[in-house]
Amino acid sequence: MGDFKFGILGCGFISGIHADAIKNIPGAVIAGAFDVHTPSKDAFCKAHGVRAFESSEEMLLSDADAICICLPSGLHFDAAMECIRHKKHIVLEKPMALTSKQAENIICAAEENGVNVTVISQLRYSPAVKEVKRMIDDGKLGTITLGNAIMEYRRSPEYYQNSSWRGTWEMDGGGALMNQGIHGVDILQYLMGEVVSVFAYAKTLVHNIETEDTLTAVLEYENGAIGSVVATTSVAPGYKRNIEICGSKGSLKLCEDTIAVCDVEGEEHHRFPGKRTSNAEAHPGGIDSSLHAEQLRDFISCVKKGVSPWISGKEGKKAVDIICAIYESAQTGKKIYLK
Ligand SMILES: NC(=O)c1ccc[n+]([C@@H]2O[C@H](COP(=O)([O-])OP(=O)(O)OC[C@H]3O[C@@H](n4cnc5c(N)ncnc54)[C@H](O)[C@@H]3O)[C@@H](O)[C@H]2O)c1
Repeated sequence: MGDFKFGILGCGFISGIHADAIKNIPGAVIAGAFDVHTPSKDAFCKAHGVRAFESSEEMLLSDADAICICLPSGLHFDAAMECIRHKKHIVLEKPMALTSKQAENIICAAEENGVNVTVISQLRYSPAVKEVKRMIDDGKLGTITLGNAIMEYRRSPEYYQNSSWRGTWEMDGGGALMNQGIHGVDILQYLMGEVVSVFAYAKTLVHNIETEDTLTAVLEYENGAIGSVVATTSVAPGYKRNIEICGSKGSLKLCEDTIAVCDVEGEEHHRFPGKRTSNAEAHPGGIDSSLHAEQLRDFISCVKKGVSPWISGKEGKKAVDIICAIYESAQTGKKIYLK
């Protein structure tokens, strides 16, 4: 089999991470890229030495095996449906779509057309998250009582002012939670299991944007535990994401992609600083491409075998469902049940 070819749709910040990731995967190449903003497209194609497509249609009619959708979030749904119509496999940046209904439509259309979808949640590929999951599944924490994701991030006013889409309902689908906080929500539900209900407050306290910059939610999990999600872009100086899983026999704290606290019997060897691949708490560009590369490698292997990838559309939809329920609660003042 020849090289696995990726087309890249959107040539902004995250497309550079995709390009760097693809370059580090043997047997994977970039077929080319397209962006409506020609200077961005030309700069990207020059920097990575790849073909500049004249249109997204031209890319979809090319021999690319899969398309990395690196567009503003509000364009993910239409772009994914277009890729599916052209039978292209899809790497969909987070959030996979802005509503549960859109996510469901992508899942169904992809299944009907034999298209493989992976939704980027690169943190799940971090060794620290995998180890935490193993300890939980092995019962080492006893009865799980608490699961919290605390994402007290800072973004500058310019972060929103210099972007036409960030902080808007139509194109960002939300604020600190949908954009930055989705990573923590996905890891939390992956480690804790399904969320049954949410109750939330959301406010816009600092930034001149439509959506929230400060949010807190209380969660109830199917396993009986409770917990919380905090997501902000309003906090100075900004702190690293902390995910805390606490149980009757032991507790764990993930700080970004390292295990910062491991009070679990027999697992004390995890008390070491792991590889840090993110300093996104105060810098929108503060991630590296190594975990994206892990996810893309996995995706290529699944496409070749004709099996569904680990973080499929169904998996990607879970965080969207929780976030939409949290927004509904904040807007209505009511507890929202997901099940
Ligand atoms: N996984 C992560 O850690 C991570 C980090 C940052 C961003 N993201 C996600 O990646 C996506 C893009 O974010 P970004 O920071 O790269 O945004 P960006 O604004 O830097 O880039 C978006 C690009 O899309 C282009 N574009 C807009 N409409 C287009 C269209 N119709 N056709 C082709 N190109 C079009 C824009 O010109 C721009 O170059 C978002 O959904 C975001 O949530 C994920």
